[in-house]
Amino acid sequence: MDALDALLNRVSAPRLCEPAPDAAQRELLFRAALRAPDHSQLRPWRFLTIEGAAREQLGELFAQALPADASPEALSKARAMPLRAPLLVVVIARVQAHPKVPAQEQVLAAGCAAHGILLAAYVQGIGAVWRTGELAYNAQVAAGLGLARASRSSPSSIWARRNASCAYRSRWTWPTSSVPGRINAEVARVG
Ligand SMILES: Cc1cc2nc3c(=O)[nH]c(=O)nc-3n(C[C@H](O)[C@H](O)[C@H](O)COP(=O)(O)O)c2cc1C
Repeated sequence: MDALDALLNRVSAPRLCEPAPDAAQRELLFRAALRAPDHSQLRPWRFLTIEGAAREQLGELFAQALPADASPEALSKARAMPLRAPLLVVVIARVQAHPKVPAQEQVLAAGCAAHGILLAAYVQGIGAVWRTGELAYNAQVAAGLGLARASRSSPSSIWARRNASCAYRSRWTWPTSSVPGRINAEVARVG
């Protein structure tokens, strides 16, 4: 598939199933993300992958973030949300103060990175959908994911089909060494 095919034909896949993308496929997802246009090379994005049992932890975090009077149905729904895909990629806008690049441009760049992931998934035959919802903007969820305050402006998630096993934790622990050159430190896995 050439680039124009992908740009002209990409669609979301709202119903996702195993397997999650394998390591080689993921590398391409993130390398595509890292080619997003980026004013002043700030790389204002971070990515978390969440899969396996860590999805249940995320569901618990979602449930805890609901109002105290949330119904049992709402709590169950929140707990089940991350289980709708074998792999979740949380795309984080890491906004920093900059004399030339306003926050809005940094969030846009992170959004372009998310689009890069979706396009690279489509090209590889991997279903994916970009989802947010209120919990993507919830401070308690952001804190639970270990996001610094400056990073909390626009967390959103892309849920991709296919898998492996790594847990999520609230800290960056693993910058990939396999991604070449300047894009190195921008991909992180937690676990
Ligand atoms: C920032 C952002 C957040 C989104 N959040 C949701 C969401 O929470 N739930 C949903 O069903 N679609 C959401 N969408 C829309 C879907 O990702 C998708 O684009 C839409 O269903 C149209 O399908 P298509 O991508 O195949 O054109 C969101 C899109 C964007 C750009």
